[in-house]
Amino acid sequence: MNKISLHDLFDQLWEFYATQNPQVPEIHNLLSRREDLANLVNDHIALRTFADPRINLEILAKNFTRLGFEEQASYELAEKNVFAKYYVHPSGQWPKVFISELQLDSLSQKAQALIQELIGQIPEKVLQSHALCAMGRPWDLNYSTYQKLQQESEYAAWMSAHGFQMNHATLSVNDMTSFANLEALVSFLEENGFEMNGQDSNQEIQKAFDPHGDYLLKQASTLAAKVNVKFLDGERIIPGCYYEFIERFQGYEGFDPGNASKIMESTNMRNHRGH
Ligand code: NI
Repeated sequence: MNKISLHDLFDQLWEFYATQNPQVPEIHNLLSRREDLANLVNDHIALRTFADPRINLEILAKNFTRLGFEEQASYELAEKNVFAKYYVHPSGQWPKVFISELQLDSLSQKAQALIQELIGQIPEKVLQSHALCAMGRPWDLNYSTYQKLQQESEYAAWMSAHGFQMNHATLSVNDMTSFANLEALVSFLEENGFEMNGQDSNQEIQKAFDPHGDYLLKQASTLAAKVNVKFLDGERIIPGCYYEFIERFQGYEGFDPGNASKIMESTNMRNHRGH
C-alpha cells in the first residue's frame, strides 16, 4: 500500500473498530434517536503500540503526519508506564489522533522477550506500510502469552491480542444538543444498559481542572465489550475496544494524563470479573 488518503486510512481504522466493538452500532443507533447524525462528532481516536523502534509512537504518527497531521503535545502516564502524544489536522475536518506507547523497559525481561518475539513476526511489508496503524494484529500468539503479559500490564496484553487498530473513539458532548452535559449522557447510557468504566464505584466521570480549579475536561468511557479473539490454541472471549465521551471547557483542546490513565482501565480484564 504505497498511496493512501486520510479517507482510506480512517475508513480502514473504522472498519476494524466497528467489527471489534459491538457497542459502535448500538451506541450510534441509541444516540441517533435523540441527535442528528451530524451532532455525533468524534473529538479524537486513540491508538496504542509498543515503544520498540520498529513500531513505536513516532512510526505510527508518520501514517498521519505525512498526510498533514501536526504534533501538538506529549504526556507521561507514569502510573501505566505509557508515553503519549496527540496530533491534529489543520483543516479541523478530522478527529484528533492520540497515540500512546508502552515503555518496554518497565516490564520484566521475560515479558520483553515475549513482545520481541511478536514484533519479530511482523512481515517487512507491514512494517513499511503507510497504514501500519490500521493493519490489525500482524502476529500470532498463544493464549498463555496473553495471560503472562496481563500479569504485568493490561496494556501489553491488550496490544498483544488486538494489534494495530483503534483502541477507542471519543464522541464530543459539546457537539450534541440533547444532553446538558456529560453526566446526562452517562446516565442515559447507563439507563440503556451500557456498563461504564468506574460505574461500580460511582466514578464514571474523570475530571481535569485548570490552576484556578475550573473545569478543562470531563471524560467517561464504556467498559470494553468482550469479543472473540483467535489465539494459536483456540478462540477466547476477552475485552476489546471501548467508546469514550468527552466534554471540553474553556476551549481546551488538550488531554490530561490522570484522566487518560483511568480511561485506559476500560480494557482491564479485572474490571470484567463477574460480568
Ligand atoms: Ni481518549
